[in-house]
Amino acid sequence: MRKKHWIALLILTVFVTSFITAGCGSSASGTKEKIALKAADNQPDGYPTVEGLRHMAKLLNERTQGRITMDVYPGGQLGGEKETIEMVQSGTLAVNRISTGSLAGFNSKLTAYTLPFVFRDATHMWKVLDGKVGQDLLRDLEKDGLVGLTYYDAGARSFYTKSKPINSPAEAKGQKIRVLQSKIFVDLVDALEASATPMGFGEVYSALQTGLIDGAENNPPSLWAMKHYEVCKYFALDEHMMIPEVVIISKKVWDKLSPEDQKIVAQAAMESSQVEKKLWIEYTEQALKELIAKGVVISKPDKEPFRKAVTPMYEKYPQYKDIITQIQAVQ
Ligand code: GCU
Repeated sequence: MRKKHWIALLILTVFVTSFITAGCGSSASGTKEKIALKAADNQPDGYPTVEGLRHMAKLLNERTQGRITMDVYPGGQLGGEKETIEMVQSGTLAVNRISTGSLAGFNSKLTAYTLPFVFRDATHMWKVLDGKVGQDLLRDLEKDGLVGLTYYDAGARSFYTKSKPINSPAEAKGQKIRVLQSKIFVDLVDALEASATPMGFGEVYSALQTGLIDGAENNPPSLWAMKHYEVCKYFALDEHMMIPEVVIISKKVWDKLSPEDQKIVAQAAMESSQVEKKLWIEYTEQALKELIAKGVVISKPDKEPFRKAVTPMYEKYPQYKDIITQIQAVQ
């Protein structure tokens, strides 16, 4: 009888010990706790930024044998940009792909990127983002509870409208244009004597349909992916702004990762940026072709009159003078 008791106790002890080590973090054999991250994007499935995040998820999974996973939620399922940035700050959401247009509302230095015509072209923009200015600005996000992992491409933004194209500043006059919820976008539209209506990205389609607005401004992939072309038949490529996207991770989540896992996450994000940039070029070409096929009239207006009309705006933002000078000095 006694012997049987001892054997039962021994079996129980072995069972309980192995259960505890499996459940909590690292065990003597070196196995580590599983980490399940969630990532948000307000663009739909198949969009280059969403595919970029999916690539990052794939790399994390492969490089940790499934220990670190990342589920991607596209299409604004988890909320608009402003809400999801707040979720990242509070740590209820781990990862977010966000436009610097929205992120500038949380870190004002990023506003410098959103000044019209601040980048000469895509090559200039990538030199700035990959160089000191770009990397310093990513690091600066930490004081706002966010860790900037990498930049994604978002091309250049132009005006699209329902009933008449904006081929010159004069043609913008009086048109009601949706803008991102940021003062600089309102100033841009004001400078063209049009009327700015700030609203979230997800509300634009119905605002166009109901006539609350006459048009909006964005890159070709957004016009295509969000189906705004069903309502807007004019797209004038004045390319007034190039505002990159940023992949951020919550500082609260980041600080809990081991230095080794931080390296894995940072590296996967960086590599995903290369994939996104390649997809961006392909998707933009395809979007422009599809837009033409759907009857959208695409024009390439002279950019100079636009540049001239909006340049006085810079004087309203003396606080970014230093960053702007640094950006412009990059050759
Ligand atoms: C871009 C960007 C979105 C952003 C949108 C906007 O399309 O990818 O993240 O929300 O612009 O104009 O709001």
